Amino acid sequence: MAENRLFYAKAMQKILSKESSFAELKEEFCESEKGFANMLIMTALRRLSFIKEDVLPLFVKKKIPAKQKILEIILYLGITELLFMHTPEYAVINSYVEAGKSATDKFGANFINAVLRNVLRHKAELLAQKNTKYFSKEFLKILKQDYLPETIAEMEKFTGIEPPLDVSVKQGFSFCEGGTILPTGSVRFLANTKVKELERFDDGKWWVQDAASALVVNALFDLRGKKVLDLCAAPGGKTAQLLDKGALVTAVDISLKRLDVLMENIERLGLLKNLEIRCSDALEFQEDQKFDVVLVDAPCSATGTFRRHPEVIHLKTLDDVKKQQGLQKKILEKAKSFTLSGGLLVYATCSLAKAEGEVVIREFLAKNKDFQIRSIVLNGCEKM
Ligand SMILES: C[S@@+](CC[C@H](N)C(=O)[O-])C[C@H]1O[C@@H](n2cnc3c(N)ncnc32)[C@H](O)[C@@H]1O
Repeated sequence: MAENRLFYAKAMQKILSKESSFAELKEEFCESEKGFANMLIMTALRRLSFIKEDVLPLFVKKKIPAKQKILEIILYLGITELLFMHTPEYAVINSYVEAGKSATDKFGANFINAVLRNVLRHKAELLAQKNTKYFSKEFLKILKQDYLPETIAEMEKFTGIEPPLDVSVKQGFSFCEGGTILPTGSVRFLANTKVKELERFDDGKWWVQDAASALVVNALFDLRGKKVLDLCAAPGGKTAQLLDKGALVTAVDISLKRLDVLMENIERLGLLKNLEIRCSDALEFQEDQKFDVVLVDAPCSATGTFRRHPEVIHLKTLDDVKKQQGLQKKILEKAKSFTLSGGLLVYATCSLAKAEGEVVIREFLAKNKDFQIRSIVLNGCEKM
């Protein structure tokens, strides 16, 4: 058990130092512990700002030396389990003390022991505080560029609430046992629903896709027989929607690994027939034909996914936003060359930063007078 705790602390350290992504590390967790490990690290990431800023300073007065950073991470996880999970308290303390000993020495173990016992003594007071601090200072800097404090506070509240599981369903099938059909057509299940336990996963009638992500293709007109270039396509949620709506799709992505996932997803859904896959940097992509629709689901800071991927709260900075904006502008410029005259160029991101959305579009339109904003129709309502 202690070995596992140290393993998870090392995983958390890799996530926070951007050495590996959480998605990659999850693959390394042993099957029987995956559920617990996932819950532990997700909860720690969600509560990290509170733990770092409001809990640790009460009990650790000196800065932990960089060489012993792992002890701080062990504390993040130990405090997460003590305050926010249901592991018996004695087991939490024992296993993190052991983890501290394995990571450093008996002094490290004593330090972990002293801090965790102190946290435990003050558990009731700590939990009585209004635990609404989730966003890091850097993340707040991004949001403050575009949103009022009360809007940010509204967003922040949702960090502590597990997101539901949304799926998109192939046309002609109804699938909602245990779920709720949203007005946009996605089907929503409770948080923590296990994907593979849902009915007919292997039949390939539906795929996991957040309802907000599905809106992009849902908003498009009749796509039957239309040629669509999906320029940043993997892992293929929107590619699946385009194919399901009858489009002839060329899916491009820079990552071969992610394209393999796309291929697997589309194959499971039985939608391979009208799909061509090309591995290329969008900026280098070469193609003679033009397309009725070009979709740029651009790489971005992903700040809008903070509920499902709480690591973004601690990793993203204004620099990331700026860097992504540079790439987004270039990809959009390149995409226009593949768009038929009178065709549709669709731009989407999962970022909350307007610098990656509205600003990119405004600058593009200022430079390209032959493109105009088209209104979309969603649920019978026209929107600009
Ligand atoms: C937001 S994700 C796309 C999600 C996808 N459209 C979906 O709905 O499942 C952005 C994708 O852009 C890809 N990407 C990043 N830089 C790229 C580039 N220069 N050219 C092409 N693809 C790129 C990434 O590998 C990633 O798969």
